[in-house]
Amino acid sequence: MGRVQGKVALVTGAAAGIGRAAAVALAAEGAKVVVTDVDEKGGAETVDIIGKAGGEASFLPQDVADEARWQEIVAAVKEKHGALHILVNNAGIGVGARIFDMPVEDWRRQMAINVDGVFFGVKHGIPLMAESGGGSVVNISSVAGLQGAPGLAGYCATKGAVRLFTKAVALECAQEKMNVRVNSVHPGIIDTDIWNKIPQGGTSALQSDLIPEGANTIDAGALGEMAAPLGFAGIPADIANGIVFLASDESRYMTGSELVIDGGMTAR
Ligand SMILES: NC(=O)c1ccc[n+]([C@@H]2O[C@H](COP(=O)([O-])OP(=O)(O)OC[C@H]3O[C@@H](n4cnc5c(N)ncnc54)[C@H](O)[C@@H]3O)[C@@H](O)[C@H]2O)c1
Repeated sequence: MGRVQGKVALVTGAAAGIGRAAAVALAAEGAKVVVTDVDEKGGAETVDIIGKAGGEASFLPQDVADEARWQEIVAAVKEKHGALHILVNNAGIGVGARIFDMPVEDWRRQMAINVDGVFFGVKHGIPLMAESGGGSVVNISSVAGLQGAPGLAGYCATKGAVRLFTKAVALECAQEKMNVRVNSVHPGIIDTDIWNKIPQGGTSALQSDLIPEGANTIDAGALGEMAAPLGFAGIPADIANGIVFLASDESRYMTGSELVIDGGMTAR
């Protein structure tokens, strides 16, 4: 018996990185996983990886910043599986910029994906979860939702929002006796492609601070060595392990809480 045997899970941003690792781990523990992402090729690859490992998964293209699409996705999950028990709001982007130079378009795009996306997931996903007898929502925040980082002020704003939004929604679900738990996960430096996508050109505070000399993009491995007390960057599976725990009934007494997986970064 898997730890989430027979449950229906929806993981956003699951074409790569942490989302893919979460989808793979949930499927390995017996969940039927709906993989969504704007990246259709990567999404299909995730489904393929799960299928080859003997798990069950399907892909739906989704931009999490689009509310109407969220409604279609939840309707499609209900139609195919008749239920939703696990929702991992993982899709996210990082825009590095000195805040004084940040175009409002970048601010809004990051807010739309990292914050609106989580709001829509909660708004449209939780009613189906409640209808399904209950479940667990896992919102992916960051250490950047717990402490500031120069060059990442916009990103910190989105991840701080996810942290407190999670707590308030957890309380609403408890108050309404929905049997839905809602928690946030706070990864530290995890070696995924997000770090290669962050530099936007120009001279951001982030770039000058975090890009190792001679490199074009942020090297997550080098950054992990530098910034994490454990002395190395995490891998997506480190976060997926926490996600499976929060998704499963092992965490039945946890709601509105923060699971920090950061190699000690925020212990200082
Ligand atoms: N990697 C880290 O060090 C780290 C640290 C803290 C928090 N996080 C958070 O973890 C989550 C996953 O990040 P990752 O490191 O795996 O990044 P990643 O870039 O490897 O993967 C993110 C995925 O989200 C998808 N995505 C982007 N915009 C989308 C949209 N509008 N709709 C749907 N999907 C979209 C991308 O296509 C990609 O597949 C993010 O929320 C990120 O902020 C990452």
